[in-house]
Amino acid sequence: MTFDELFDSLPSKGWLTKPEAELLYRTAKATKGGILEVGSYYGRSACLLASLGRSVLCIDPWKDFDSDDKLGVKTLTSFRKVIAERGLVNVAWVRIKVEELTIEPMGFVYLDGDHTYEGTVHQILKAQECQPQAIAIHDVNDDGEGKEIKRAALELLGPWTERVERLAVWTL
Ligand SMILES: C[S@@+](CC[C@H](N)C(=O)[O-])C[C@H]1O[C@@H](n2cnc3c(N)ncnc32)[C@H](O)[C@@H]1O
Repeated sequence: MTFDELFDSLPSKGWLTKPEAELLYRTAKATKGGILEVGSYYGRSACLLASLGRSVLCIDPWKDFDSDDKLGVKTLTSFRKVIAERGLVNVAWVRIKVEELTIEPMGFVYLDGDHTYEGTVHQILKAQECQPQAIAIHDVNDDGEGKEIKRAALELLGPWTERVERLAVWTL
């Protein structure tokens, strides 16, 4: 399967663009070991990362995110369906916030959960405890809530290795 075919096969709900997906995929691929994704939503980025064939742990409370799906029933049901339909047996998911995560070593961590300054700090601290070879953060931006994500990321991780649109990566 080409990257274009892979990208076109991803669940459509979500914000990850093709240039961002390319950087995310390439950065994750250059690492070894398990992959942690914080904030999985409908599974767009989870399916992309899972296509690498390595174990992917997805954590997300799957609630209180979409105003029309407060309990997250629709979102989690859809996430489970896309994972099952694709036969992605390498994906495990846990319905928790990142703050509740028990740390284990990971090769790569993708952060796309709580988009506040404090939430981003929590996510980065957890990610660092997993001692990954690389971290990627979505919504690193120059305005809106992304500005606070950017501020937290620069404070804790320093200058990024690469950024495409709103996806920044740090090779550690
Ligand atoms: C922007 S969406 C993630 C999009 C997904 N990565 C994709 O590519 O489609 C943000 C997700 O983060 C989750 N979230 C919010 N706060 C969180 C937290 N503290 N820990 C883990 N996940 C969180 C939300 O429930 C939501 O599903």
